[in-house]
Amino acid sequence: MPDSLRDAVGWIVAALLAVAAAVVLQAFLHRGTGSQQRQHDTALALSAGDPDRGRTVIAASGCGACHTIPGVPGARGRVASSLQGIATRNIIGGVVANTPHNLARWVENPRALNAATAMPNVGLSRQQALDVATYLYLAAQ
Ligand code: HEC
Repeated sequence: MPDSLRDAVGWIVAALLAVAAAVVLQAFLHRGTGSQQRQHDTALALSAGDPDRGRTVIAASGCGACHTIPGVPGARGRVASSLQGIATRNIIGGVVANTPHNLARWVENPRALNAATAMPNVGLSRQQALDVATYLYLAAQ
């Protein structure tokens, strides 16, 4: 192979490697951290829930009188714990494992899970509870 051709092939290979490296880096940067990815996956597992509707339900149900909830205007209550980062907690309400199903059950009817809890039953439907749980997992980070 003449030198000029070898140089040209070398440049093409180098260029392809650079593009490949850029693609890998891009994929890595958009992957987020492992825990963010897990939270996102968990939220999507709640495919029956709509996070936008969930936020509207939260704002209309007075959750913010007791809880601080990121992304919900006026939700700055200090009666109970902030719901920021709820997706990363292990236990909900001190009584059940934090799963999408259990979070929806808790917000739908907390006293069914813990009769002694101070959190009232605010009267959400099953669908509203799913929407709220999806919002909390996805957005309240
Ligand atoms: C009157 C105050 C009050 C209102 C209103 C209220 N909560 Fe609570 N909430 C509490 C209290 C108190 C706890 C702690 C319960 C316990 O540990 O027994 C709690 C616990 C929770 C938990 C579990 C938190 C954890 O770290 O385990 C979630 C999730 C939650 N509330 C969501 C909501 C949502 C969503 C709404 C609105 C639909 C709402 N709450 C309305 C008082 C309230």
